[in-house]
Amino acid sequence: MSKYSVQAIILAAGKSKRFNTGNSKLLEKLCGQELILYPARLLETINIPSTFVLNYQADEIKKVLQATSIKASFVLQPEPKGTGDALAHTQKTWHQNNILVMNGDMPLVTEEIIIQLIEKHLQTNATVSFVTAHHPNPSITDYGRVIAQDNTFRIIEAKDLQEQHESCCINAGIYLFKREFLLEHITTLTNHNAAQEFYITDLIKIASDKKLTIETISAPFDHIRGVNTLKEFWTAEQIKRSELISLWMERGVRFDVAQSVHLDMNIVIGAGTRIGAGVHILQGTTIGNNCTIEPFSIIKNSTLGNDCHVFSHSIISDSFIEQECKVGPFAHIKDKSYLKHNAVIGNFVEVCRTTIGTQSKAKHLSYLGDTEIGKKVNIGAGTITCNYDGKIKHTTIIEDEVFIGSNNTLVAPITIEKKSYTAAGSTITNDVPTESLALGRARQVNKEGYAKKFTKKEDKANPEKKNKHKDSGFFGAIKTHNDLLEQ
Ligand code: UD1
Ligand code: CA
Repeated sequence: MSKYSVQAIILAAGKSKRFNTGNSKLLEKLCGQELILYPARLLETINIPSTFVLNYQADEIKKVLQATSIKASFVLQPEPKGTGDALAHTQKTWHQNNILVMNGDMPLVTEEIIIQLIEKHLQTNATVSFVTAHHPNPSITDYGRVIAQDNTFRIIEAKDLQEQHESCCINAGIYLFKREFLLEHITTLTNHNAAQEFYITDLIKIASDKKLTIETISAPFDHIRGVNTLKEFWTAEQIKRSELISLWMERGVRFDVAQSVHLDMNIVIGAGTRIGAGVHILQGTTIGNNCTIEPFSIIKNSTLGNDCHVFSHSIISDSFIEQECKVGPFAHIKDKSYLKHNAVIGNFVEVCRTTIGTQSKAKHLSYLGDTEIGKKVNIGAGTITCNYDGKIKHTTIIEDEVFIGSNNTLVAPITIEKKSYTAAGSTITNDVPTESLALGRARQVNKEGYAKKFTKKEDKANPEKKNKHKDSGFFGAIKTHNDLLEQ
């Protein structure tokens, strides 16, 4: 339980019209986390229970919140008629003495801002407190202007400004009200304004007119930025990304070209690790100490142990990689694959739902799907596991110390037992017993002098076509393998 007598209402019912994507902005992921989860997680950390006001894409937003450990309750605003109307619909949930109201579209707000607001409000016994910020040129923004004159306060929305006002600052969209005040005045809001909406901000004027105590705290503008448009979303994401990069730098992560790297929330990077240009480290990833992630690699929802080296342009998703492995360049490891200590996956190798044992290697041009590979196995260049028969996927088992020759096709289900070899160019369709050599290809036949003899015979038969091998079809005469053997 929170030490404060405060509960929170998060306004999240708007249509996100200015976003222009057709979707609620609150579902959009900023640094890998939906916008709505930013205020939700923030309030959860300071133990303040939250009620979310929903309408547009209510089910989707609910689902996002319910997929977390956040204890949230929900209220439906039947029609988005403005922030004041949204708050009015939550009246039945008010049970604490103080109601904190926050816009849902503020991903950069810090714990300090909320705590400072609450403490000032409680210490001064204010009726209403709210957060303001300075902007060097408010006229280029859509924020509500805070007008403080002769001990009166009001907030005028940008679209309702009829004349130039001496505005001290802008309204951040975070308010703390005494419950009694809300109960008395919430129904007095009107929609007589440019947007024909019920504005929560009109409650400030009401309190001011009644000479009730109003307090404000000032926060840095960057922390209270709201996200109405895709441009504002982009700016907010750049700020969040820079915050994350600074955080990991402070913890000993070296970034070669920091401004080109994308980091999500909910990742861990170990000290001494070096991150190259254009790398994306996405949600749910943990990277150990002293790893190198070379340029343009993408790692998502995966774990890498200490001392791994990911060469450039590799993609790793939903997988687990133990310490001292090497991956790439241009490797693709996905779908719960598991690389054990010291494994090596080289260029143009796809590893899908596959375990690669300790010290095993697949260094070039291979597809390994639904495969269990033991330790010290060598997979030759161009090996393909044929795991799919058009209906279901089958498993390939390659036991310890097996050597798969180059350009093999391994038709699953199949087991290649310990210490066996398969010959280069083989199509392996049957299990291979321990310590055997499997050859699955046609035997080579060399017909000595054949080419010379064939050319002479052809020239005699068609003298006019001499020197026109292409037209006469030098190899065209050989239709099948048997034709060749019979020559
Ligand atoms: C609001 C403030 C403005 C402030 C700015 C700070 C009002 C009238 N204006 O403007 O003074 O400077 O925030 O970012 O409050 N919502 C509902 N139901 C509705 C309408 C909106 O739940 O009927 C939700 C939205 O989903 C959003 C939040 O309320 O999360 C704020 O609404 P928005 O339209 O973004 O308000 P602003 O125009 O930014
Ligand atoms: Ca907004």
